[in-house]
Amino acid sequence: MDKPILETRAVSKTYGEGAGKVAALESASVTLAQDEVLLIMGPSGSGKTTLLSIMGCILRPTDGEVLVHGRDISACDESELANIRRRYFGFVFQAFNLFRSLTAQENVEVVLRMKGRSTQKVHAEAADLLARVGLARRAHAYPRDLSGGEKQRTAIARALAGDPPIILADEPTANLDSKTGRDILQLLRGHAQELHKAVAIVSHDPKVEEVAHRVIHLEDGRLRS
Ligand SMILES: Nc1ncnc2c1ncn2[C@@H]1O[C@H](COP(=O)(O)OP(=O)(O)OP(=O)(O)O)[C@@H](O)[C@H]1O
Ligand SMILES: [Mg+2]
Repeated sequence: MDKPILETRAVSKTYGEGAGKVAALESASVTLAQDEVLLIMGPSGSGKTTLLSIMGCILRPTDGEVLVHGRDISACDESELANIRRRYFGFVFQAFNLFRSLTAQENVEVVLRMKGRSTQKVHAEAADLLARVGLARRAHAYPRDLSGGEKQRTAIARALAGDPPIILADEPTANLDSKTGRDILQLLRGHAQELHKAVAIVSHDPKVEEVAHRVIHLEDGRLRS
């Protein structure tokens, strides 16, 4: 396998102080390579979202290192981190994080603009991405008028926007029926295999195991080998 595009070395994360202190993640070392779909499994509260957020340079670890394309990002300030996120990552969050005042189409367009796509291309590309997740007919709806699964698919279209080198997805099939879930997983797998990108998915869904190349398990903040 190629040299990893993303690597964590012994990352730990502690939330809070004193009696309220929670050791959410302890010394987790993970690699993610091009062409690969990595599945991260583990019970609720085991640290999966924490690990994914650290991998995506959204959350800084309390300890340990994160390397993006071989570069240790611990010395980066917030604006450098924002650039790294924009350049390297597409995210699907558990709570979707869609802009409420923008339609599905506009939610995708925002990311395409941020990734430097020309104005002429943005509209057509966003429409194409929404069609790929089966939302062509709902492209002009606002999040409040979309079902949970439609919001989820909008978030996935947005994560795919601009063909990011790395997609990090937290329970991307949680709100989808099994046929739609399979289609979405094929899209994510295609992103890794055909476009030579890297995908990490947090999930309990057995369908994800079918598309993953590698599975890691978290338990109480520790990786089980
Ligand atoms: N901002 C925070 N402040 C304090 N504790 C937190 C915070 N975020 C997460 N935690 C705690 O850290 C631990 C790991 O949380 P995390 O969200 O990473 O779990 P998870 O594996 O993603 O769970 P789930 O499957 O329910 O989404 C949990 O005990 C959680 O309560
Ligand atoms: Mg979580």
